[in-house]
Amino acid sequence: MIVTNFLRKRISRHFTKQSEIALHNNIPSYPSIEERFSDIDELGIYLHIPFCNQICPYCPYNKEIFNDEASQKYVRAVIKEINTYASILTNKPVTNFYIGGGTPTTMLGKGIEEIINHIYKRFNMKCHVHMESHPNHLTPENLSAIEGMNVKYLSIGVEALQDRHLKAIERPYTVREVKKSVERAARSNFQCINIDFIFDLPGQTAAEVEQAARDIVNLRIQQVATYPLFRFSCTRLGKEFQKNRNEIATLFRRRKLLKIFEDIFYDAGFERSSVWAFTKKGVDKYCSVTVPLYLGFGASGSSYLRNIFFVNTFNVIEYIKAIEKGMSPIALSIDLSEEMQMAGWLYWRIYETKFKKSDFHDRFNISFDKKYGLKMKILNHLGFIKHNNDQISLSDKGIYWIHAFEDFFSINYINKLWGTLKSDPWPVKVVL
Ligand SMILES: C[S@@+](CC[C@H](N)C(=O)[O-])C[C@H]1O[C@@H](n2cnc3c(N)ncnc32)[C@H](O)[C@@H]1O
Ligand code: SF4
Repeated sequence: MIVTNFLRKRISRHFTKQSEIALHNNIPSYPSIEERFSDIDELGIYLHIPFCNQICPYCPYNKEIFNDEASQKYVRAVIKEINTYASILTNKPVTNFYIGGGTPTTMLGKGIEEIINHIYKRFNMKCHVHMESHPNHLTPENLSAIEGMNVKYLSIGVEALQDRHLKAIERPYTVREVKKSVERAARSNFQCINIDFIFDLPGQTAAEVEQAARDIVNLRIQQVATYPLFRFSCTRLGKEFQKNRNEIATLFRRRKLLKIFEDIFYDAGFERSSVWAFTKKGVDKYCSVTVPLYLGFGASGSSYLRNIFFVNTFNVIEYIKAIEKGMSPIALSIDLSEEMQMAGWLYWRIYETKFKKSDFHDRFNISFDKKYGLKMKILNHLGFIKHNNDQISLSDKGIYWIHAFEDFFSINYINKLWGTLKSDPWPVKVVL
């Protein structure tokens, strides 16, 4: 533990040149946010729906059990928050719109339509919606309603395709039922249907993973995201796992399971579209906000505007109260130095598995080779990346090591930031 903390700090210090990465309760004023938008060409929007019909034991996302009264107040508050930004954004084109949760489909017929309509009315929308959904909500009527909301990219939280695993992670459906839901969605007119699948579940065998991968191919969806079961310390399952972890065994097991997915999905005409996802060749992928600048609405909505990152309070009641009082719902922010922005840029491009060096130059006006050339040479030599003139892409080996290091960086940061924001609506400072 002491060694990993030391290493984590050293690596993050090396890339960001910061002795400490910390978020503070410095709330940026709206005029200062407006100023940051002045030279922005396009942006993305994220909308958070913090309600679910159940609480899964492994899930770290900001959510609470759906209730009618809170959701009605939430709709009014989000619309007010949208109005605040609409007046400072003027006519900037919005090229990416993602609705996540929690479970956005808990609010079908409960105000989500109103929020989406309002966004299309108040912003210069140049895109369709990407939205998460729960399999139990995908009735024929709900699927029509979802299509009617401009959603062209739909993700379904399938998670497992063996009844014993669905039961173990407390998902409220059987394999037969979830397959029916996905097949129904696949018969609709979405441009891309993604299913989320969690692997390396307790006791899961390679044969089970292989069978699930073949079943996924037969579902005729366009994309699958395969996540290893992350052990978030802020979740019930994560806490249980902390007790008996064997990191080396986990690394070997995950390598073997990931290889099964790669073989089967590549063979079926999928290609890697992110560290987690495989998408059918030629299909426009389902993804969360990818543009380098985005605004987040709702409780726990976060925003990234080039040199600042800020996040709203996670607490739904506090979020509503702040907005009703005319106050900012932002809980924490961090100013990002040029060095941190570059490290963040590289981090996200690596997640997308390929990028152009010239895009880095366009964004920072510095040669990518000058900044990261030596590191890329080493990664190339190790077989983690492929280098083709302007293009750098991760190899399957490189992607595996991102999986392996996920616990080391992102999961650790998420545990600290989300863990604190879940227990304290307005923290003074969080050190990552
Ligand atoms: C917001 S949920 C998806 C939509 C919906 N709430 C549902 O559960 O069907 C986002 C996804 O994150 C993934 N996820 C959540 N907790 C995870 C964990 N501990 N490890 C791996 N994946 C996880 C699941 O695949 C889940 O579908
Ligand atoms: S996995 Fe989905 S349904 Fe389960 S608690 Fe998380 S957001 Fe809610």
